[in-house]
Amino acid sequence: MAILVTGGAGFIGSHTCVELLQSGEEVVIFDSFANSKPRAVELIEELSGKKVRLYHADLLDANEVERAFAENAIESVIHFAGLKAVGESVQKPLLYYHNNLTGTFHLIDAMQRHGVKRIVFSSSATVYGMPKEVPMREDFPTGQPENPYGRTKLMIEQILTDIQRADPTWSVVLLRYFNPIGAHKSGKIGEDPNGIPNNLMPYICQVAAGRLDHLNVFGNDYPTHDGTGVRDYIHVVDLARGHVKAIAKARSFQGTEIYNLGTGIGYSVLDVVHAFERASGVKIPYQIAPRRAGDIAECFADPAKAKRELGWTAQYGLDEMCADAWNFIQKNPNGL
Ligand code: UFG
Repeated sequence: MAILVTGGAGFIGSHTCVELLQSGEEVVIFDSFANSKPRAVELIEELSGKKVRLYHADLLDANEVERAFAENAIESVIHFAGLKAVGESVQKPLLYYHNNLTGTFHLIDAMQRHGVKRIVFSSSATVYGMPKEVPMREDFPTGQPENPYGRTKLMIEQILTDIQRADPTWSVVLLRYFNPIGAHKSGKIGEDPNGIPNNLMPYICQVAAGRLDHLNVFGNDYPTHDGTGVRDYIHVVDLARGHVKAIAKARSFQGTEIYNLGTGIGYSVLDVVHAFERASGVKIPYQIAPRRAGDIAECFADPAKAKRELGWTAQYGLDEMCADAWNFIQKNPNGL
């Protein structure tokens, strides 16, 4: 029996596949390589010492989705695949709604046809919208995500919740990630975005590598300890291990459960810059720029529910996240 991992070659997907394989699971990857590379799949096999079956296909292609289920004994699904660039989603909303929602419909259709009723979904803290208070708990009402990308995450959460309500024998685990950064200890896999990065850590890495001139710090007048935005950065390997626990949970219950995956600690943009400088020994030049539209001041998790119910806690701190991200960039100066 195997776990189907959509988007398994991506940043979080690849680290999750390594952890799943190392814990003895069989893995089938379904990935279009829209924002990842086939090399990541070879590296997953190298790091785990195990083979995976790969479907190089898009979830929009319902025939290929059907083929993956027909040709393998799939027992659970981890669904990462989706477009995720916040800014692009504002420019091209239909692309985002079509890709992320239609892809999910094809996946759920095939699951229903093949009697597969366990799914772990890659959601985001963005579904909380503008939080009234921090740390954020899973029982907080969901808010208004600021962009179409975030709205697709919330919609898919709601769709899966409805599917489970209609058929109570389903097990749905919704994982709300905070800010995943870092890379595998080996430095072989890590975050490898196309083009100029949108997110803080890959941007800092490119400045450190000399590919970008300086970091723009988006706003220093937020009500935080140094005026810059505060987020809950989490090591991608910790996040990946959360998925192994989530699969165990999905096998043990029927219903829908939501878990925050974060450390519970908030760091500002400048905290991250300084931690990165310490870890790498490289100075990161930065300029204060205007606030970025849609950003909130502070966002960090209450991770108590994941600890209590999944037996999961993040192990790595910010210094290790920075050191591992830097190690990956140094070993892969031109990406994977
Ligand atoms: N930032 C900068 N300069 C940059 C990039 C980011 O100052 O060049 C700041 C942002 O303003 C923010 C912090 O760094 O304060 C983190 O920004 P990221 O873009 O790295 O991450 P976000 O918190 O905006 O977004 C992340 C994910 C989204 C997800 C969201 C949920 O990228 O997919 O968390 O909260 F929806």
